[in-house]
Amino acid sequence: MTAESFSFNPYTPGHNVDPVPAYRHLLEHAPVYWWARGQAFLLSKYQDVVAFMKDPRFSRAPRDSRNYQPPPELPGNELQRAASDNSILSVAPADHLRIRRLVNPAFSPRAMERLSEHTRQLTREALARLPDGDVVNLAAVVNDIPLRVIGRLLAIPGPLEPAFLEFAGCRTALLSPTLTPEARIELLRGVGVGYEAVRGLIAERRKQPGDDLLSVLIHHEEQGARLTEPELLGLVGAMIVAGSDTTLHTLRFMFLDLLQHPEQLLRVRSSPPLARAAMDESLRFNNLNLLGNPAHALEDLTIRGVNIERGQTVIPLTGAASRDPEAFERPDEFDIDRPDLARAAFNFGGGPHVCLGVHMARVEGEAVLQTVLERFPEMSLAGDPQFAPHGYFRVMCDLPVRVRS
Ligand code: HEM
Repeated sequence: MTAESFSFNPYTPGHNVDPVPAYRHLLEHAPVYWWARGQAFLLSKYQDVVAFMKDPRFSRAPRDSRNYQPPPELPGNELQRAASDNSILSVAPADHLRIRRLVNPAFSPRAMERLSEHTRQLTREALARLPDGDVVNLAAVVNDIPLRVIGRLLAIPGPLEPAFLEFAGCRTALLSPTLTPEARIELLRGVGVGYEAVRGLIAERRKQPGDDLLSVLIHHEEQGARLTEPELLGLVGAMIVAGSDTTLHTLRFMFLDLLQHPEQLLRVRSSPPLARAAMDESLRFNNLNLLGNPAHALEDLTIRGVNIERGQTVIPLTGAASRDPEAFERPDEFDIDRPDLARAAFNFGGGPHVCLGVHMARVEGEAVLQTVLERFPEMSLAGDPQFAPHGYFRVMCDLPVRVRS
C-alpha cells in the first residue's frame, strides 16, 4: 500500500482483530492524520498523545466541537441531560478540579483494595456457572464483573442489581455512533429510569448513610454543598461509561496475550503479583480502543505542522501510540518484564482527566486473573478468538480455552 492509497478505517473487517498494520502506516507516514469520515484528526505518536492529554487548549466538552449537535429533547430525559452536563468527563476545568479533589480519595489504592475479595467472589461465581466441558469461552466469564464491582462500590442493594445492570447497559449502548433515532430514544428512556433509581438511592443514603461511595460523596455535598446532586448522578454515569467496557475488554485481552505467551502465563501463575504487569502490558500490546477519547481545540493551533482550527476534533489513537518504536523497545513483542512498562500507563490517560479508576482496574485485573488461574492452572488456548463489530472498542466475544487436558 502506498502512502497515497492508504485510507484509515477502524471499521474495516479485520481491523479489530489486528489493527497493527494500519498503526504502523500511520506512525511512519501520517502521525497527524485527517480522518474524513470521523471529521477528526488522529494522533499516533506516543509523544503527541501524551502532550495532547495534558494540553489545556483542548476541551472534552462536546459542545466545544464545531460539529456539536444537542441530544434530542425528550420528556423524562432531564436527569440524563443533567448527569451528562455535570459529568466529570465534560465539565469546565474549575468544576472538574473541584470534583476530582472531592472524589480522588475515595478511589485511592487502599480504598480499592477493599474490592479485591468481592471481585474474587464474583469471579468464582462466574466460573461456577460455566457449562461442563473441556473448552470454555473465557471472554464470557468476565462479562458482568466490572459493572458488578462498580455496583458494589455504590452499594447497589442485591434486588436492584439486575435493574442497575440494565441501566448501565443502556447507558453504554448510547455511546454507539451508529444508533437509529428510535433506538436512541428507547435507550434514553432506559437511562432515565436508571438515573431516577439512583436518585432514589441517594435520598435513602441521605437518611441512612453507609460506608459506600455514594454515602461518602453525599456527606461532602452536605458539608459544604460542594458536590451537587447532578454531579453525583454524573459521576455514576461516568463510572459506568468509563469503567465497565474498558475493564472488560482489557481483561479479555490480558487472558488472550498470556495464553498466546504460555511461558509468561506460567510466570504469572508462580508469581501472582506479576498479574498487574500483565494487565498494563496487555493494555499496551493489545489496546482495546479502536479510537481514543476525543477533545476539541479551543483555539487555532498546530501539531507537527498540521493546522487544527478552533472547534475541530482530535482523537488520540492509543493503540498506535502503544506501538511507537520511539517510546517502546521491541514494541511488537508482548513482554511483562519490559523495562519501559511504566510508560504503558499512559493508556490510563494523563493530565487532569487521568483515569479515576486506575487502581480499581488494576485490583480487578489482579483478582480476576489470579482467581481464574487458581481454578484452571493448566488452561491453554483452544482456538482463535472471535471478534464482534463495535463503535469504539475491539470486542472479543469468544475466547476458547481448554481447561482440562
Ligand atoms: C483497564 C481499564 C481502564 C482503562 C484503560 C481506562 C482508561 C481511561 C482513560 C484513557 C481515561 C481518560 C483520561 C484522559 O482523557 O486523560 C479515563 C478516565 C476515566 N476513568 Fe478510566 N479506565 C479504566 C478503568 C476505569 C474504571 C474501573 C473506572 C471506575 C470508576 C474508571 C473511571 C474513569 C473516570 C470516571 C474517568 C474520567 C476522569 C475525569 O474525567 O476526570 N476507569 N479512563
